[in-house]
Amino acid sequence: MATITLERVDKKYGAGFAVDGLSLRIEQGELVALVGPSGCGKTTTLRMIAGLTEASDGVIRFDDRDVTNLPTYRRNTGIVFQGYALFPHMTVADNIAFGLQMRRIKRPDAASLVREALALVQLEDYAERYPRQLSGGQQQRVALARAIVIKPDVLLLDEPLSALDAKLRVEVRTEIRRLQSSLNLTTIFVTHDQEEAVGIADRIVVMNAGKVEQVGTPRDVYERPANRFVANFIGLSNFITGRDEGGGYFRNQAGQLLRFEADRISGPAEALVVRPEMIELGAAPSGSPHNELEGTIDTITYLGAVTDLELLLDSGERVHVHRSNRTPGYVEQFRRGEKLTVHWPPSASLPI
Ligand SMILES: Nc1ncnc2c1ncn2[C@@H]1O[C@H](COP(=O)(O)OP(=O)(O)OP(=O)(O)O)[C@@H](O)[C@H]1O
Ligand SMILES: [Mg+2]
Repeated sequence: MATITLERVDKKYGAGFAVDGLSLRIEQGELVALVGPSGCGKTTTLRMIAGLTEASDGVIRFDDRDVTNLPTYRRNTGIVFQGYALFPHMTVADNIAFGLQMRRIKRPDAASLVREALALVQLEDYAERYPRQLSGGQQQRVALARAIVIKPDVLLLDEPLSALDAKLRVEVRTEIRRLQSSLNLTTIFVTHDQEEAVGIADRIVVMNAGKVEQVGTPRDVYERPANRFVANFIGLSNFITGRDEGGGYFRNQAGQLLRFEADRISGPAEALVVRPEMIELGAAPSGSPHNELEGTIDTITYLGAVTDLELLLDSGERVHVHRSNRTPGYVEQFRRGEKLTVHWPPSASLPI
């Protein structure tokens, strides 16, 4: 059991930085998701924490212990690698026991630890099967059992669900979360899928080109994105560009004045982010300040729970509006080319 601290950790390959000045503290029992586009340094970060890749600079601690120069086998990390390959010629039980043998744990003890790990991932009856006789989700759970059987201080998961279909991803994700919180394991979960990160993590670290763009709870990152990159990466965003006029007033490109909550940003806002589900159709109610704009419906896309209306605003900007499909007939009344008024409250204009 351990906290993980990274202090200005770098990884250089040639002239370029794969990881650039990364500082982060992960609490005991916390599940932190590292998200970001391909090549942003997620795997490199995990490998440095595990001791599989040497940091070029900076310090890595588990609790107060400096592990920066410790070899992997002295760090006690459980890892599920990207792609998670199990040993195909070994049974499930032997796959899980592998790490225990490396640690020279006696056979009878190892056997009971393997049984315990299999029970945790609910695969008690599969011990003697080979990986090819398992479904993708079952193989994934074996990989997880193999990582936790050594009772790691920290659990490192690199895209553990990437091989699974959408429904199974959610199931196994829920299972990982349940297991991680019942064992109170400090865990880093790497994914490039922002929805997965939002759905599983206590906190999210958004990375871009080796650097951290924002760290926060899923709600923080969604409702208070630090910049355009984060707003774009986490959830769907409409961007309204223009100029901050001070006092919570923002002028868009067409010269219209929009409202936002000025205390949500320290400097001047460069743009307003509006989430598609926060935009209402029709004229704004009188009495409270609202942002109200006119536009024309350009596309209508049915998405199951919601319908996406893409509007070309008279100001020249495009916005996506999501409306619930809960009320029969409501969304069906709209037609392409139709003029519409939309509105949203100042609190839904997120300044960046
Ligand atoms: N051994 C290496 N030698 C040189 N460059 C490397 C090496 N390993 C990684 N890199 C580079 O470091 C950067 C970060 O790679 P990394 O594997 O950490 O990305 P990632 O965020 O895990 O991406 P993905 O989502 O595709 O798995 C990339 O530009 C990659 O090309
Ligand atoms: Mg990777």
